[in-house]
Amino acid sequence: MHKIIIAIDGHSSCGKSTLARSLAQRLGYTYIDSGAMYRAVTLYLLRHGISAAERERIDAVLPKLQLSFNDKNEMLLNGENVEHEIRQMKVSNYVSEVAAVPEVRRAMVEQQQEMGRQRGIVMDGRDIGTVVFPDAELKIFLTASSQTRAQRRHEELRQKGYPSTIAEVEKNLAHRDHIDSTREDSPLKQAADAIIIDNTRLSREAQLARALELAHQAGATGSS
Ligand code: CDP
Repeated sequence: MHKIIIAIDGHSSCGKSTLARSLAQRLGYTYIDSGAMYRAVTLYLLRHGISAAERERIDAVLPKLQLSFNDKNEMLLNGENVEHEIRQMKVSNYVSEVAAVPEVRRAMVEQQQEMGRQRGIVMDGRDIGTVVFPDAELKIFLTASSQTRAQRRHEELRQKGYPSTIAEVEKNLAHRDHIDSTREDSPLKQAADAIIIDNTRLSREAQLARALELAHQAGATGSS
């Protein structure tokens, strides 16, 4: 079976993880949510009262952080399941500041590249096609209108029982998009060879069908 690397990048809350997860499942690949790793680092710093400006302290604690995923793709931080906590607004409101810190990025990218050594992975994030796997066989840049993104995330948070207002979610997405796109170290941008999928008016099934078609064209021979 020929295994490839699939990179999915895009702005906050445009459905990257929904697509990446289902694509990985259909191909028999491993799904890796790189954003969850930045969220877990953020949670650790919040818990220990370390700010994103304290780069030396961050550099000192990074080796103490063990990040892994369980078989349900839930995030484990030093063995503790933090999946629910990292999705809450207190983490969303600070994660982009933390993800802009070069020491954090260096440590995360190193681990992500290691995870991809076996190939057969779908990884979603902001810099996967540009920095983590510039040689990925398939790069998708996912987009959706900002209104659609805010509505989807608000609904997702409501279903999970996390309190938020649509205004708060909209503000957070705009804030993160701004920092993620303008930071100096590996800003969010479309790789030159990425294929755009705008899913504003696409159903999940239609989006998955399009991505599967692209994966097969790129040489994936997994079960689908
Ligand atoms: O799912 P959502 O769009 O809310 O974001 P996420 O994928 O969980 O990522 C959370 C944050 O982590 C982003 O806003 C970025 O600041 C950062 N991130 C990054 O810098 N690079 C990545 N490869 C993935 C996430």
